[in-house]
Amino acid sequence: MLAGGNGNDVSGSAAVPLLIVGAGGFAREAAEAVRATNTRAARWRLLGHLDDDPTRHGCLVGPSRVLGPAEAVHDHPAAQVLVCTGRPDDYFSRERLVTRLNLDAPRFATVVHPAAVVPDSTVVGEGTVVLAGTVVTVDAVLGRHVAVMPQVVLTHDAVIGDFATLASGVQLGGGARVGEGAYLGAGVLLREGVRIGSRSLIGMGAVVTRNVPDGQVWYGAPARWVRDVEVPPDRSRQPIVAVAGQEERR
Ligand SMILES: CC(C)(COP(=O)(O)OP(=O)(O)OC[C@H]1O[C@@H](n2cnc3c(N)ncnc32)[C@H](O)[C@@H]1OP(=O)(O)O)[C@@H](O)C(=O)NCCC(=O)NCCS
Repeated sequence: MLAGGNGNDVSGSAAVPLLIVGAGGFAREAAEAVRATNTRAARWRLLGHLDDDPTRHGCLVGPSRVLGPAEAVHDHPAAQVLVCTGRPDDYFSRERLVTRLNLDAPRFATVVHPAAVVPDSTVVGEGTVVLAGTVVTVDAVLGRHVAVMPQVVLTHDAVIGDFATLASGVQLGGGARVGEGAYLGAGVLLREGVRIGSRSLIGMGAVVTRNVPDGQVWYGAPARWVRDVEVPPDRSRQPIVAVAGQEERR
C-alpha cells in the first residue's frame, strides 16, 4: 500500500525495474505516468511491456519494447509489475490477468502521476494507477489494481473497490462507493453516499442518484437499469477479496 503522497519519494533508493502488462491505450498512458514520475526522481526503470498477442512481441510501444507474454513477469523476479488492461467491453481483463499471474502483493507497483493530487489521508492499493489531473480531497480508499483515468474527482470518504475502473472525468460525491470490478464510463457523476455494485457498468455521462446493485448496466440522467452484466464464465465464481482497510470505512 502507498499511504498518501504521490509515490515520488525515492531519496536514497535506486530506480526500481518495472514491467507493464498490456500494450494498449491504458498501458501506454500508465507508461507516460511512469515517465512523468521519473522526471522528478529516477523512481522506475521501465523494462518494457508484456502482451499475450505474439504478433506484438518485439514491437515498440513508445520507447519501450514488448518483451513477451504476461507470464514473462516470472522471468524478472526483481521487477515490479503493473497490469494495465481494461476496456469497457472487457473490463474484467485486469482481474483475470492478476489472478492468472498469481504474484505476491508486494510485486505490484503503485503509480500516481505527479500531476494528480492524492493527500496523505488517502490509501492507494497495490497495482493501482492514478493518471494526471485527478484530485482526491480527503480520506478516500482506493483498492488494488484500480484504474483512475485523467481528471477524476474523488471527494471525502470515497471508497473504490479492487479492480474498479474510473474513466476520465468521473466525479464522486462524498462517501460514494464503487464496488469491486465495476466500470464507470467517462463523465459519470455519483450523488453523495451512492453505492455502485460489484462488476456493474455505468455508461458514460450517467447521473447516478441511487444505489446500483451488483452486476448491472445503468446509464442516462438520471441513470436507470438497462440490462444485467454478462460476467464471463471464468470470473463468475471468483469472489473479489476486499481490500484491507476498506471495511472499517464502509
Ligand atoms: C453504456 C454502454 C456500455 C452501452 O453500450 P452498448 O450496449 O453497446 O449500447 P449501444 O451503443 O448499442 O447503444 C444502445 C442505445 O443506448 C444508447 N446509449 C448508449 N450509451 C449511452 C449512454 N452512456 N447514455 C445514454 N444513452 C446511451 C444509444 O444511443 C442507443 O440508443 P438507441 O437504441 O436509441 O439508438 C456504452 O455506451 C458506454 O457508455 N460505455 C462506456 C464508454 C466510456 O466511458 N469509455 C471511456 C473509454 S476510455
